[in-house]
Amino acid sequence: MEKIVILTGAGISAESGLGTFRDEEGLWAQHRIEDVATPEAFVRNPGLVHGFYNARRAQAVKANPNVAHGALARLEREFTGEVLIITQNVDDLHERAGSQSVVHMHGALNGALCHDCDHRWEAPLVMRVGDQCPQCSAQATRPDIVWFGEVPYGMEVIDPALSTADLFVSIGTSGQVYPAAAYAQHSGRMGARTVELNLEQAAYSRDFDEQHYGLATEVVPAWVAGILADRH
Ligand code: OAD
Repeated sequence: MEKIVILTGAGISAESGLGTFRDEEGLWAQHRIEDVATPEAFVRNPGLVHGFYNARRAQAVKANPNVAHGALARLEREFTGEVLIITQNVDDLHERAGSQSVVHMHGALNGALCHDCDHRWEAPLVMRVGDQCPQCSAQATRPDIVWFGEVPYGMEVIDPALSTADLFVSIGTSGQVYPAAAYAQHSGRMGARTVELNLEQAAYSRDFDEQHYGLATEVVPAWVAGILADRH
């Protein structure tokens, strides 16, 4: 059975109104990573970190999936082989568009985690310093987000998927954060054909056999339609 593995980044959610990270007005132009997205930042100033993710959660719940998310859900429904989405995004727009096979390697805004007992539960819209874990009552709750310096989630699913993929497709990511940035090269070496769908060419683009540039809402539905037409 043919297997398609898709890596998505902030670019696929940009047209849903969620900011990317590394554009001129991106999130990392407005906030320093070391202030809001590391375990040390959370120890130093948990209120600031909660505030950053509370704002992003508020934005994400108001956003709707766009036709690029919809096209990937259609691919999973209609493709005769296997489709796995590995997303670096912490929004839930893939799921809300109907995708079922999704790994959130950088965690999820709608998740909360207790760093005392590792219990996970659905995050309230606003998380606060001093919130208690519903399981162990420790005041040790944090957003269930993978910060810089932490190990991404789902590696036990991701590694074998990359090794056995026939097609690896990267959508809307700048390829600047590891390990995701190495997935195209890795799956390519293991035998996959590699395709990049992105707004514009970047240094990362040379890792791919094939590239399509433009807005995700245009390029992704067109690419999905092509795959489904080819395989019928
Ligand atoms: P970036 O902001 O680094 O890259 C977004 C990519 O999407 C760029 O290549 C843009 O050109 C492209 N893009 C922008 N608008 C687009 C559109 N409408 N259609 C298609 N492409 C578009 O975001 P990521 O690569 O996702 O991690 O960033 C990776 C990780 O870095 C994030 O998961 C986050 C961040 O730090 C953590 O916080 C751990």
